[in-house]
Amino acid sequence: MLERPTPPTLSRLAADLASLEACSQLRSLSRRTGISLCSNDYLALAQDAKLKRALIEAIEAGAAVASTGSRLLSGNDTAWEELEEEFARFVGAEAALFFSSGYAANVGVLSTLARKGDIIFSDESNHASLIDGIRLSRARKVIFPHLDLNFLEDRLRRSAPERCEKFIVVESIFSMEGDRAPLLELAELAQKHGAALIVDEAHATGVFGPEGKGWVAEAGLERSVVASIYTCGKALASAGAFVAGSETLKQYLVNRARTFIFSTAAPPYLAAQIRAALKLAREANDRRERVLSLATSLRARLRDADFDCGHSVSQIIPVLLGSNQRALSAAESLRRRGFAIRAIRPPAVPPGGARLRISVNAGLSEEVCGRVVQALRCEGAEIG
Ligand SMILES: Cc1ncc(COP(=O)(O)O)c(C=O)c1O
Repeated sequence: MLERPTPPTLSRLAADLASLEACSQLRSLSRRTGISLCSNDYLALAQDAKLKRALIEAIEAGAAVASTGSRLLSGNDTAWEELEEEFARFVGAEAALFFSSGYAANVGVLSTLARKGDIIFSDESNHASLIDGIRLSRARKVIFPHLDLNFLEDRLRRSAPERCEKFIVVESIFSMEGDRAPLLELAELAQKHGAALIVDEAHATGVFGPEGKGWVAEAGLERSVVASIYTCGKALASAGAFVAGSETLKQYLVNRARTFIFSTAAPPYLAAQIRAALKLAREANDRRERVLSLATSLRARLRDADFDCGHSVSQIIPVLLGSNQRALSAAESLRRRGFAIRAIRPPAVPPGGARLRISVNAGLSEEVCGRVVQALRCEGAEIG
């Protein structure tokens, strides 16, 4: 048999993978082993018996196992409409729309609201889903240094003569930094300069604000932001995401957001799971207090041991290590000591910003957190 030449595309892919490996940026899928400090299951609900029961009951009560089409075709189950209304009431918005993932929600919102010629002011630490939405919108973008409001205001001022729409986009709790956006100040800036504020509440949902409503509700900004995005795959231990805002926003997204229109709706049984998760999360003050107090004490212990945790104020604690190699060997050493903590490397963080990303959940204990610090200390001593 004739040996087929390797197509040029595959050769290029192989070369690219080799270059990723050479700079310790090659990723591979691995099974999580050991005690997890890398999951976004902040309220420790992923194995909750009530959530599982809600799913089983929904199926037993006749919920279909497939939605059978896009919401605009055959997939619009009343379960989703009811849940959207419930979620909107929960976060104090006029309306909400469910997307099948947070990624789809962010891409949908950004690519739909901003148009060619508009300007989007985006924090440099924003999640890839926001960045991709911005790219698709074809709007001009101004990336401002992480939470540098002086820089942001300066650029807003300079853009004053531009006759276009302006948007400011941030996460309320930043996914790789664990710090918090000053939403009140941002809302003031947005108002002063005629910009629309968009807030991704992915890591605040369920964890911060009254009943876990997030920072927009906590700050009383429900009617000041144009859109806020709440993922269900993290503290709500489910999947998908809501975009909350005005009724006009919802109708616009239904008509224009391609990630909503051209995608099969999530199955109706998932709506039952999310509804149950929402109820659990609202009542979970004890878990919220627990996860945040564990995070506070873990951060303090890490700082005592001279680790740099940046400006984290949440359940997400970065341990800033700088080089990819350093982050990888720290994660590997922790794995050997029984902890699942991931090394985060560029492009998820800026070059030279490699880190461990510790995410605390309510199922952990002070004792386990103490052992993590101990393990990191030993690791630090080993590799210097
Ligand atoms: C800040 C932020 N926004 C959006 C997403 C995407 O959400 P999903 O995982 O539901 O697609 C993530 C996921 O990690 C995130 O961290």
